[in-house]
Amino acid sequence: MKVLVVGKGGREHALCWRLSQSPSVRGLFCTAGNPGIAQLAKPVPIAPSDVAGVADFAAANRIDLTVVGPEEPLSAGIVDEFEKRGLRIFGPSRAAAQLESSKTFAKHVMRRAGVPNAEFESFTDIAAARRYVEAQRGPMVVKADGLALGKGVTVCRDRETALAAVGEAMESERFGAAGRRIVIEEFLTGEEVSFFALCDGERAAPLGLVQDHKTIFDDDRGPNTGGMGAYSPLPHYDAAFEKRVMREVVEPTIATMRAMEVPYRGVLYAGLMVSGDRINVLEFNVRFGDPECQALMMRYSGDLAEALLAAAEGRIQDAVVQLAPRSAVAVVLASGGYPNDYRKGLPISGLEKIEGKEPSPLKVRWALERIRIKVFQAGTALRDGHIITDGGRVMAVTAMADDLTTAVAGAYEAADLIEFEGKYLRRDIARRGLVALDAEQR
Ligand code: AMP
Ligand code: GLY
Repeated sequence: MKVLVVGKGGREHALCWRLSQSPSVRGLFCTAGNPGIAQLAKPVPIAPSDVAGVADFAAANRIDLTVVGPEEPLSAGIVDEFEKRGLRIFGPSRAAAQLESSKTFAKHVMRRAGVPNAEFESFTDIAAARRYVEAQRGPMVVKADGLALGKGVTVCRDRETALAAVGEAMESERFGAAGRRIVIEEFLTGEEVSFFALCDGERAAPLGLVQDHKTIFDDDRGPNTGGMGAYSPLPHYDAAFEKRVMREVVEPTIATMRAMEVPYRGVLYAGLMVSGDRINVLEFNVRFGDPECQALMMRYSGDLAEALLAAAEGRIQDAVVQLAPRSAVAVVLASGGYPNDYRKGLPISGLEKIEGKEPSPLKVRWALERIRIKVFQAGTALRDGHIITDGGRVMAVTAMADDLTTAVAGAYEAADLIEFEGKYLRRDIARRGLVALDAEQR
């Protein structure tokens, strides 16, 4: 089949890479894209947000399946547009994508489905929001209802900070229209993990748990980013836990959305807070995470295109959704200054040491240790034939090995071969998993 990937970052590079290895794929296209994607897919010069333009391209080029990476085109109704024209697409409709684009909608689905989540109230009236804050004790979380580029959530340690956050969202309109409605919820503690499943409207096939690392600095300090690294699976959670997430979170959500006549098709990404026996959903996203997708695609071992087509056609049971029983780790290389101001256009070197054909002692050792390395590019571009930085998160160096310890060592060994001015990375990706393994061995 001919497949079109919508998006242009690291997540889409990973999707293109895995799709390019699907036996059923004979043509691969991607909207715009970085030089890494361009090696795998024919570039289509249409912006991912240009819903009608993407649909025109898919129709004119007889694309059999379109796969959407980012949330914006989904919230803008790209799936509705494709379905109206009888074109196959993997992702949720605009109404179902509200699971991510409206926190109030997500909360109502969770309430109706009996999915555990933080106590909350939703407000469009600032006076009512203030009265609610005044009546609370202890920390709380103020969230802009709509899409705010990951910046709409403020964890508030007391009433004063919460009142300030309410004012910023509803009065100063810091998040624009996205903050006119807000959700105020109970502050939860525990360990954050992400769960992914492929859904076909009625059923779901698990892809399992991944842990992201959201802050810029080690030990979860500093401002939030899009994600600085991820690993999968998590050695400190067992198969029984994943079954529980399917039973208590994914299946009731799918059943409820079906009953609400907004069936959910696409990737369901549940951000969870786990504390002892308690699992709470912090948020839903309607797409793969970035860089979680890079770790998952490294392990994905079936025909991805067939699986996504089956999900889009409401017959996920026909697909083999399987991940290799190995560990994958993605370490993000960022440009100095990210997530604030950073420079672009800095030359990148060292990629050929990983991806070049020449043999080297390091590559031989990786092969002997069964370490597989893949660099997924995100904010990169070409200038006069040389690769340069073109974004805050530049690439995700991803390694897979039989165990987590070996995969982490491989990922950092490879990450250290790549150089550009101001290169920054976290040094503690997967540490929670490594600490858990260490404790187990003692
Ligand atoms: P969200 O976009 O809703 O996932 O929120 C972004 C981040 O804010 C999450 O990854 C958590 O670290 C934090 N957060 C969100 N909701 C809560 C909550 N109820 N309690 C504690 N932390 C939260
Ligand atoms: N890595 C977090 C996200 O994609 O939302």
